[in-house]
Amino acid sequence: MGAAIPASSVVTTALHGDVLVVTIDNPPVNALGAAVRQGLLAAMQQAQADAAVAAVLLVGAGKAFNAGADIREFGKPPVAPLLPEVCRAIEGSSKPVVAVLHGAALGGGLEVALSAHYRLALPAATLGLPEVNLGLLPGSGGTQRAPRLMGVQAATAMMLSGQHLKAQAALQAGLVDKLVESTVPLAAGLGYVRELMAAQAPVRRTRDLTISDPQAALAWLEEQKAETAKKARGLFSPLKIIECVRAAVQLPFDDGLTRERALFMECLDSPQRAGLIHAFFAEREVVKVPEAQAAQPRPVASIAVIGGGTMGAGIAVAALDAGLPVTMIERDAESIARGRANVEKVYTALVAKGRMTEAAQSAVMALYTGSTDYADIAQVDLVIEAVFEDIEVKKAVFRELDRVCKPGAVLATNTSYLDIDAIAASISRTQDVIGLHFFSPANIMKLLEIVVPAKAAPEVVATAFELARKLKKVPVRAGVCDGFIGNRILAVYKQAADYLLEDGASPYEIDAAVRGFGFAMGPFQVTDLAGGDIGWATRKRRAATRDPKARYVEIADRICERGWFGQKTGRGFYLYPDGARVGQPDPEVLAIVDAERAKKGVTPRSFSADEIMRRYMAAMVNEGAKVVAEGIALRPLDVDVTFVAGYGFPRHRGGPMKWADMTGLPKVLADIREFAKEDPLFWQPAPLLEKLVAEGRNFDSLNTAG
Ligand code: 3HC
Ligand code: NAI
Repeated sequence: MGAAIPASSVVTTALHGDVLVVTIDNPPVNALGAAVRQGLLAAMQQAQADAAVAAVLLVGAGKAFNAGADIREFGKPPVAPLLPEVCRAIEGSSKPVVAVLHGAALGGGLEVALSAHYRLALPAATLGLPEVNLGLLPGSGGTQRAPRLMGVQAATAMMLSGQHLKAQAALQAGLVDKLVESTVPLAAGLGYVRELMAAQAPVRRTRDLTISDPQAALAWLEEQKAETAKKARGLFSPLKIIECVRAAVQLPFDDGLTRERALFMECLDSPQRAGLIHAFFAEREVVKVPEAQAAQPRPVASIAVIGGGTMGAGIAVAALDAGLPVTMIERDAESIARGRANVEKVYTALVAKGRMTEAAQSAVMALYTGSTDYADIAQVDLVIEAVFEDIEVKKAVFRELDRVCKPGAVLATNTSYLDIDAIAASISRTQDVIGLHFFSPANIMKLLEIVVPAKAAPEVVATAFELARKLKKVPVRAGVCDGFIGNRILAVYKQAADYLLEDGASPYEIDAAVRGFGFAMGPFQVTDLAGGDIGWATRKRRAATRDPKARYVEIADRICERGWFGQKTGRGFYLYPDGARVGQPDPEVLAIVDAERAKKGVTPRSFSADEIMRRYMAAMVNEGAKVVAEGIALRPLDVDVTFVAGYGFPRHRGGPMKWADMTGLPKVLADIREFAKEDPLFWQPAPLLEKLVAEGRNFDSLNTAG
């Protein structure tokens, strides 16, 4: 063991005999910030200059080799040396350079490894170029070196999907040279270096490899363009990745690198990069809530679900998939048989598609118990109620839970709108009650709103966040109000859509504009998918308390009165002939819309897609600001995550609040004030929005306010 020679605090070098071990130690994931880049470059210069060094070993300290560029630096002025320069220095080394990969070797981290002359992987390594998920492309030679090592098709597929390869797959793909069973990167790496030196393995540069059959590769890339454009749905970087790979095939290596750099800079400057990186960090920040940081979660080893309908069954599947035993309670034998069937059919479908074995289905169903007797859930750690959306029915269920459950059991409700404070206050263990608002289908949708009543114990909140982690959900903390974060904001922008409809835009124009913005579906398509009857029931429930001065559009009621509830009835706002899943415009719906406009004396105007989106988004952002100001959402980023994870908001726009920041809050506020001239009651600017504009600040300033 030689003396440590400090290169920088985050990159250290140490001579092990004649091998210079260069360790990147920049917790938590060794991201390649400026100090790491400087340290690596200095280490490579040291290796060239020092006659005692015969070879170099690159290793990552802690849990990962390297997770890539420090993405917090993007959007800030670049600091030399840039990563391509570091990679050039590594590849250009006159002494063999070996990288030993454990944990994440992603993005720029893998690009560093591809610049080394040899790569060793430990079994737990994951390799990938996931830049596409951040609106980027591999910008430090990844698009030029990966195709040379693993072939054009495999490299392109890896970069377009952003998927990670496990060590074994990376070995087969040619990304690494060797895989060893070890959990100690340094020892394994040194062993491999010695082996190479004994065999007098030469310096071997990826840049010198040639791509076989370039004509076939170019033809294949050409074919991929149309397919990629279709799949990318407006994303900017995928087609640029194809362009880079084409450069790798056609151009000399250095020219390919220049091309890659130019296209990388285009991606870096794109608002999509800002949106996607915001989404990345927001999803990690959202779990940082005061209660979860202050309190310890209670252990959860078993759960009960009350109600085996759409949501109860989906929640049960989510829990079973996480290996948690589930007891489902229903009203009677017939209902519990249906509840069980609802759960079982999810797995039967997977078996039919060949995505699950029958043995695995039996194993998972062995964790499931159906019952009509509350005594059977006396010992469970956590209960999720998913019965009818009726406060009296729910209170009756909670009385039973209060009676039978063991002390300390967490009692959750999946209500969409009801007052959870009132449910909590109706039983003796108010502090144990919380909202766990899953989204349909509950076993698929990522979002879980964790709705915290005023008197909830902090460890109950912490338990909910821990459960979300186990279920692989994206949890967002919400306060109690009608609709919490998501459905409350949805109700408002849906209203804006209804006003547009009555004022002159067709449902098909509105849906197309919303899809054009990047949502998977427009609001009328969503209504048809969810079932028009659900919203109709809510509107009827609220009719008594609706402000008589508020504008109310009756078009959806007219459609529901005909029994047109959407896909499940074959027609709604669209027609679904023969069970079609994609709807067709319906002239009869347009006639209903016309008749309603005539009844209200509205002369229809035309709206461009841009005008539609300005109103739709202004309504969303304005209500989002109110939700933040009231503390229903902790920060604007919680609103963003809610919409990206649960409402199909285009991830590359970061979320509604990020979109507003990027559009400029003064512009959004000016729009709201303009719309308010027509309907001042609906378009009341959120005081928080006005305050931020007056102070020249944005929503993001509240995310980082601590
Ligand atoms: N830069 C800066 N911070 C990063 C980071 C990165 N590349 N990757 C992760 N982090 C941070 C996270 O924000 C988090 O911070 P926090 O503790 O303050 O919230 C912390 O590291 C741990 O991350 P996770 O919570 O995600 O930890 P996991 O163990 O669940 O996952 C991971 C680890 C798989 C490495 C995951 O973090 C990940 O996918 N990171 C991003 C990888 C990536 O996209 N790399 C490409 C970057 S772009 C690039 O390299 C451009 C180049 O081509 C020029
Ligand atoms: P559903 O009607 O499909 O299922 C409700 C089930 O509860 C039925 O199987 C019924 O037999 C059972 N049930 C009723 N009273 C019961 C009782 N006293 N004891 C035991 N079981 C009882 O309803 P769905 O759609 O599953 O909704 C359930 C809850 O989830 C509601 O509060 C709803 O607001 C909420 N929710 C619904 C979403 C959706 O998209 N359907 C999304 C998110 C939340």
